[in-house]
Amino acid sequence: MQPQVKPRNPNFSSGPCSKRPGYDVSQLDVSTLGRSHRSGLGKAALKRACEDTARLLGLPEGYRVGVVPASDTGAVEMAMWSLLGQRPVDVMQWESFGKGWLTDITKQLKLKDVTPLEADYGYLPDLTKVNFDHDVIFTWNGTTSGVKVPNGDWIADDRQGLTICDATSAVFAMELPWEKLDVVTFSWQKVLGGEGAHGMLILSPRAVERLESYTPAWPLPKIFRMTKDGKLIEGIFRGETINTPSMLCVADYLDALDWIDRIGGLSEAIRRSEANLDVLSTFVEQNDWIEFLAKEPGTVSNTSVCFTLDAEPDRVKAMVKLLDQEGVAYDIGAYRDAPPGLRIWCGATVETADIEALLPWLTWAYEQTA
Ligand SMILES: Cc1ncc(COP(=O)(O)O)c(C=O)c1O
Repeated sequence: MQPQVKPRNPNFSSGPCSKRPGYDVSQLDVSTLGRSHRSGLGKAALKRACEDTARLLGLPEGYRVGVVPASDTGAVEMAMWSLLGQRPVDVMQWESFGKGWLTDITKQLKLKDVTPLEADYGYLPDLTKVNFDHDVIFTWNGTTSGVKVPNGDWIADDRQGLTICDATSAVFAMELPWEKLDVVTFSWQKVLGGEGAHGMLILSPRAVERLESYTPAWPLPKIFRMTKDGKLIEGIFRGETINTPSMLCVADYLDALDWIDRIGGLSEAIRRSEANLDVLSTFVEQNDWIEFLAKEPGTVSNTSVCFTLDAEPDRVKAMVKLLDQEGVAYDIGAYRDAPPGLRIWCGATVETADIEALLPWLTWAYEQTA
């Protein structure tokens, strides 16, 4: 039987992700539009984006937050090109994005002393193998496999190297141990349902110390440069961006941050995301044709939830198409490099009622495509 009730919001894409409940573009504060981003008004908006991010995330004293070009990728590249090369580097990769960082480090930066710690889709590398005398790069949540690190217990407090963490699918949905993370990056279009364009770069005091004491051997393009005459350009972390940002995207980001404030802050954003995963976990327990791609329960992502099905790839494709045609679920096919399956975004902007409404449709589509 075809289910009767559809999710009110069928947007389950893993990026750009669903807008927040109640989002209305006409309600954005667009007073900055058409003005210079270096005007008092523009700078104040950008400064608020940095300050409210730090406050809502509960960043420790001394951590800097900056808005940088080119989304999460821009922030990660900026960090890698500016900080790496001083000591050996361990790169953890278990899905497409981590693999991309490893490729950049070995093939573009051409670093020689690199230890890859790798795992297949569904698994995490052995966390006990990381050498914290080295710099360490990893994604907190592998968006394309739905495998996250379970916590930060494996990260050494007395590390000599820096930890550089691509946390774009984790920030505002997972508890992050800030004191153990020296560089954290994310973008606005994930858990907050903001717009793609700019990256957020969070630096610990140790990362700043590295920036001020080490100069990489390679040239750095202007949009990566965070220091001048050996000192951090502090303005970048107060809203004085390196180049021109989209003030419309900034307005949209501030709207998302205000929403987080209104719902009760970070803990409520995390709770919403985890509640969504709980609904999916129950469904997986009750149905033997669907499984999490993540093999270890503690590593199942509560944002980009990935599934494998007891079905040939063509059948999975047909299901995805059918659900799209019915207006029930958009963009839930697995990432192009990942094993065939489904990926359902569960971040804070997704309503639990919509996940619940989706489930009978998944069963229906599975049966329809048999
Ligand atoms: C873990 C991870 N890293 C990097 C990216 C690239 O992000 P952006 O498109 O914001 O540069 C993504 C995008 O989905 C991601 O999930």
